[in-house]
Amino acid sequence: MTSDDTSSKTPEDRTMKQIGASGIFVPAMGNGTQAWGDKRFGYGTSYTRDNLYAIYKMCLDAGLNFFDTSDTYGKGLAEELLGEFHRKDGRPVTIATKFTQAKLYDPNRNLSVRAVKTVLESSLKRLQVDTVDLYQVHYPPARRALDRYLDAMADTVKSGKAKAVGVSNFSTDYLRYSYSYLWSVHGVRLASSQVGFNLLHRHPETNGMLDACRELGVTILPILPLAEGVLTGKYRAGGQEYGSQAATLFRGASLFEPGESFFKAMRSKPYEMHREELEPLFDVMDAIARAHEGTIAQVALNWLIASDPLVIPIPGAKSPSQVTSNAAALGWTMSATEFRRLSQTEAEIRRAIGY
Ligand SMILES: NC(=O)c1ccc[n+]([C@@H]2O[C@H](COP(=O)([O-])OP(=O)(O)OC[C@H]3O[C@@H](n4cnc5c(N)ncnc54)[C@H](OP(=O)(O)O)[C@@H]3O)[C@@H](O)[C@H]2O)c1
Repeated sequence: MTSDDTSSKTPEDRTMKQIGASGIFVPAMGNGTQAWGDKRFGYGTSYTRDNLYAIYKMCLDAGLNFFDTSDTYGKGLAEELLGEFHRKDGRPVTIATKFTQAKLYDPNRNLSVRAVKTVLESSLKRLQVDTVDLYQVHYPPARRALDRYLDAMADTVKSGKAKAVGVSNFSTDYLRYSYSYLWSVHGVRLASSQVGFNLLHRHPETNGMLDACRELGVTILPILPLAEGVLTGKYRAGGQEYGSQAATLFRGASLFEPGESFFKAMRSKPYEMHREELEPLFDVMDAIARAHEGTIAQVALNWLIASDPLVIPIPGAKSPSQVTSNAAALGWTMSATEFRRLSQTEAEIRRAIGY
């Protein structure tokens, strides 16, 4: 927990979850900051620094004091804002950030321990902290550079700059290898895996990721838990038009190891844009939401939470009211029957469309 204040929640609080075996306990839901400080997501036009501070404070008021960020979000501005808000507000928070390689597609990706150290130092400076709680490799490196990456990540823990390490956008094989290498060579437990996972993109259920994380005790932080707003129901048939955000589909698939499903998805109409076909799913979500006096977005978040205790959604909110609405998902639990009904309905639609 990143604060001078040690009177924070304890693991005894039953709503808290441990990130892997790190000893770091966070609420059952976190907050994504991908949109912070980024013009592409409306920063500076539809929302400002002041709006983000109001969102930040509302997250803490709602008990959601776990934030996921990255050195690339808003080109560093997201980390800077998070650091500024944390100092100003004063309440304890848990921060996960990421190391992003300078040249993502450079096959050599000539990375040294020093490079990671330097990048982490910059993040710590922006975040105004001495240690980050969770440090994640944002994207997988080339296979031949993987050991060096993992050595460098382990070093961040050994040097006390990070309390735990995680991976992001890794395949199941990479995750298993990384876990075993970090543990056998460095005695460091891999704590988390960030992967595309939501009710419309369920790859972790079938590509071995969920099973591997269960076996190894690695926390899953789902990327795009609300499918960039689609799973709130606002874009359902007859509702708001929806277009530019359809890139979600490609993030759900494995971008770094494109297989058959990825290329098939690339060639076809994005899943989210089958608005008529997806209506039966939203009808089921709506019925479950009504039964719990909740919202469709809360159903989507609860479905993820119900999928496994290791899963901690990190939705991105654009307003304080979205924060309170998402946080209220923790106020009720989906039954096993509701979970099965949702999963089956989605699977039937996906089969009918041919995804
Ligand atoms: N590791 C990676 O490569 C990676 C990649 C992507 C994301 N992530 C992480 O995952 C986090 C979550 O992803 P995300 O924020 O991009 O997408 P998301 O959580 O799936 O969707 C967030 C969007 O949904 C809408 N929304 C949120 N709560 C709502 C509510 N209660 N009611 C109605 N609309 C609501 C907002 O957009 P509007 O209000 O504009 O509709 C918001 O920007 C990121 O912030 C980041 O931390 C990681």
